[in-house]
Amino acid sequence: MKNQIKQLEQAALQEITSAAVSKDAVEGLRIKYLGRKGVVTELFKKMSELPASEKPEAGQLLNLLKNTVTKALDEKLNSAAGIEEEKEALDVTLPGILSKPGHLHPITRTIDEICRIFISIGFRVVEGPEIETEHYNFETLNIPLEHPSRDAFDTFYLKSSGKYLLRSHTSPVQTRFMEKNKPPFSIVVPGKVYRPDATDASHSFMFHQIEGLAVGDNIKFSDLKGVLSIFAKTMFGKSIKMRFRPSFFPFTEPSAEIDISCIICGGDAQKIGGKRCSLCGGKGWLEILGAGMVNPKVFEKVGYDPKKVTGFAFGMGVERIAILKYGVSDIRMFFENDVRFLEQF
Ligand code: DAH
Repeated sequence: MKNQIKQLEQAALQEITSAAVSKDAVEGLRIKYLGRKGVVTELFKKMSELPASEKPEAGQLLNLLKNTVTKALDEKLNSAAGIEEEKEALDVTLPGILSKPGHLHPITRTIDEICRIFISIGFRVVEGPEIETEHYNFETLNIPLEHPSRDAFDTFYLKSSGKYLLRSHTSPVQTRFMEKNKPPFSIVVPGKVYRPDATDASHSFMFHQIEGLAVGDNIKFSDLKGVLSIFAKTMFGKSIKMRFRPSFFPFTEPSAEIDISCIICGGDAQKIGGKRCSLCGGKGWLEILGAGMVNPKVFEKVGYDPKKVTGFAFGMGVERIAILKYGVSDIRMFFENDVRFLEQF
């Protein structure tokens, strides 16, 4: 048996040395020699057939054999693991993977751009809460109880309270600000507003507005015209024309809706080859905002004396401005966040 053990040791060590350096190969050899039906295990079983006097020595030799083979297999396994790790290791010569740094969202950029124009002529930026009360969203703005915008179909009311709602415009920040501040001042208020509109190419249940408010001693409609004209020309180009159409808002009197000349055809179909303009539909004008002189009733609600102060206010939709300026065909693109769209800004 001694000889058998010696031979087996040599054979095993040789096979282990010349085997492929891989985890699988080592595992195969471990089964072959040390597995339940392995060569070494079989020899252990044969020990019972030996005469009692030879058993101790044979046992010792077999244990030695088992240890030697185990050690050789373990060493082989270590070098296999080393090689496999190397395969996964960092190759510093590979070119790096460029990560996209990203940039501000086009709506954020448009808000910044609009606010900067107003800041440059003395306005400052103020913000207010998105969850509002009926008091600020409607009552302080002279919007009566029977006004259609108070209907649940036109405003998101918060179910749990019956008292709170998601503001449907940025105008409540006007009266919030006036309650806490004394004129003269001029502010712009950017922010999100919410309306339960069915979503389509030009409607979204959430969008952004920028509100403007200037109050002082002797603020006139001509000041409003001057300020909005500076805004329109800086935003859309020097050659833009503006038009004021009489309109109605409960919080301004008189009120107007303001159009700019179409930035594609300028109102001249000849300019675009006699076709019907796809942006203004041939009208030549694009509505961009609502405005007016602050209604004296609003001043009364916030404790100002309407005989002493006057002011103008305006409100515009940011998505609308961005759509016109960048020629975007569908408001939903601003919210889908497809990088192929966002990358273009
Ligand atoms: N709050 C109006 C809206 O959401 C927009 C608006 C119109 C705001 C006229 C004003 C304004 O401040 O004077 O439709």
